[in-house]
Amino acid sequence: MDAISQGVQRMAPSATVAITQLARERAAAGHDIISLSVGEPDFDTPEHVRDAGIAAINGGKTRYTAADGIAELKQAVADKFNRDNALAVTADQCCVGSGGKQIIFNAMVATLDPGDEVIMGAPYWVSYPDIVGFCGAKPVVVPCDANSGFRLTADQLRAAITPNTRWVILNSPANPSGAIYGEAELAALGEVLLANPHVMVLSDDIYEYLIYDGARFATMASVVPALKARTLTVNGVSKAFAMTGWRIGYATGPKWLLAAMNKLSGQSITNACSISQWASVAALNGDMSFLDDWRAEFVARRNHVVERLRAIPELGCDRPKGAFYVFASCAGAMGRTSAGGTKIESDRDFVMALIAEANVATVHGAAFGMSPYFRISYATSMDRLDVAMDRIEKFCSQLI
Ligand SMILES: Cc1ncc(COP(=O)(O)O)c(C=O)c1O
Repeated sequence: MDAISQGVQRMAPSATVAITQLARERAAAGHDIISLSVGEPDFDTPEHVRDAGIAAINGGKTRYTAADGIAELKQAVADKFNRDNALAVTADQCCVGSGGKQIIFNAMVATLDPGDEVIMGAPYWVSYPDIVGFCGAKPVVVPCDANSGFRLTADQLRAAITPNTRWVILNSPANPSGAIYGEAELAALGEVLLANPHVMVLSDDIYEYLIYDGARFATMASVVPALKARTLTVNGVSKAFAMTGWRIGYATGPKWLLAAMNKLSGQSITNACSISQWASVAALNGDMSFLDDWRAEFVARRNHVVERLRAIPELGCDRPKGAFYVFASCAGAMGRTSAGGTKIESDRDFVMALIAEANVATVHGAAFGMSPYFRISYATSMDRLDVAMDRIEKFCSQLI
């Protein structure tokens, strides 16, 4: 008997989680694997944030909380949106969840029915289409290639909207491309959305603070305030504060939507971890100057990876302005055979051969809806990155 629900059957396992697991297994079997597949900073959670977590444990802040978060954190979230994004919101227009992922999941489950459509550009973050598909709705994937800087244009958005469109998902800086939407691009997309009042906007801003080269962060609800009433602005502490394991995300949006999401949390997770919530209060209210050092380190690593990739004839890439990924083309490897005898017909073949033969784990572009590409996460020390790039270069040089 096939007892698995149709919703779960429609979901693919997360490719990034699967590759990271494969890398772990190979490492456990004694291989010197370098994992460039993970989506998390390699820095430690800042000390003042860790201390706040310890103080929460010792202070007995270890009980259930309100489903949408403790008042102190919702206030810190509202203050953050006011301070950093000029979004005039109050704490009751904010919610806290168990990671940005759970918030996005809740938002989709709360609003989607079979037949609904959700527009997203490819390359997309791996979880968007699977969450939408789980709800019985249809991911409408719009290819946004390197020529458009991996960004959805206003014309593409206009053409993709139908009467069934419920949401468009925007992610800037983006995973996996590192692409950023500037104010002008958001304003152009916003104009299309103003003409389509049935479409909601999910702005996934989780990489907000990881932005380089003097680029300025912009988010839809502040660029086009008329869209605020139908925009869910999602963020979290995972990437900015190296807190992926603490599992705290947050959002601001219309109250009717937050109420539905709150109901879902109350009947599933109950609440995000109380200790992590207190640590997140310290994160959002505290000094963020440590990020200057992190950004400088990320820029140095990004530049190194980009330069090394560009020196490999089979590969190529843009210089992304945000997040900590490089989304590189491996078109030049297609149709070739590796030293280990693997015929490389897809980016998945390329990535799998790279793990098996070169001990470097990356993620294939197909997982993000765009081939033939692969994603390198440069959230790894410069020394390890350099060794990884040596291995990738050698692997490519041996292709026949
Ligand atoms: C684009 C994007 N959105 C959301 C998330 C969710 O992060 P978290 O659930 O850790 O807040 C991630 C994590 O990889 C991401 O890359």
